[in-house]
Amino acid sequence: MINPYAPIEAKILDVIDENSAIKTYILKPSEPLVFDPGQFVMVGMPGVGESPFGVSSSCFDRDQLEVSVQIQPRGKNTTALHNARPGDTALVRGPFGNQYPMDYFKGREVYVVGGGVGMAPMRAVLLALLHEADQYKRIVLRYGARNPELRMYKDLCLSWETDPKIDVVYTVDVADSSWRHNVGVVTSIMKPEDIADVPNAVAVGCGPPIMLRFMVPLLLKMGFKPEHMYFSMEKNMSCGMGMCGHCRIGTYYVCKDGPVFTYDQISEFPDAWT
Ligand code: FES
Repeated sequence: MINPYAPIEAKILDVIDENSAIKTYILKPSEPLVFDPGQFVMVGMPGVGESPFGVSSSCFDRDQLEVSVQIQPRGKNTTALHNARPGDTALVRGPFGNQYPMDYFKGREVYVVGGGVGMAPMRAVLLALLHEADQYKRIVLRYGARNPELRMYKDLCLSWETDPKIDVVYTVDVADSSWRHNVGVVTSIMKPEDIADVPNAVAVGCGPPIMLRFMVPLLLKMGFKPEHMYFSMEKNMSCGMGMCGHCRIGTYYVCKDGPVFTYDQISEFPDAWT
């Protein structure tokens, strides 16, 4: 078993410019790193430090993993990562945290809502769902970004538009002349008719706290049970192992008890939504 304290080398196979603020790194660890959707890894450049990133690739691909890195807030490590090139060596530790209960999702409608860079862990969930699409009753994605340029995974999102296994609707807050989908915040494309059997459906979401704040009452109004509303929470993670206390939400540590929480676990903690 891999020691979570000891980083392993990972060759950067490719670097994809998602947009002006985010790059995705395709990494090949020197030994297989087995993870589940929702988990995160610490990634850094040698001698610079490390930062936590939700894995955005498919858990069924055991040879490589992908993380998407936002340049802001500009730190030493994110700057070093943004300067890294294919062929360079990064360091990876993990995986850490809990995961989405994919087995529990089987036989249910799964309603995925992603906003901004929160699409990274949602991509891992969606790729896992689509890998075994016949196991799920329905797979739905509602994805919002600030503008068309800031969208992530553009080619994949385009391919999903014609994929009968997934029902997608996209929106941006501010459109340009190239945009042919919806305009408005992500909650404007979440409709009760999106889900047929809501008492049994599960919702999965990740995005900025403000988005989650508006999304929660809407999901409840749509009829989702609090224990069926799952969120990937993002807090200031540092050690990634429950040691530093930087990532608290109420009585929980996001790194150790999360990052995946159900609404009924965290609803009473104000710091979850700020
Ligand atoms: S990141 Fe250190 S306790 Fe969670």
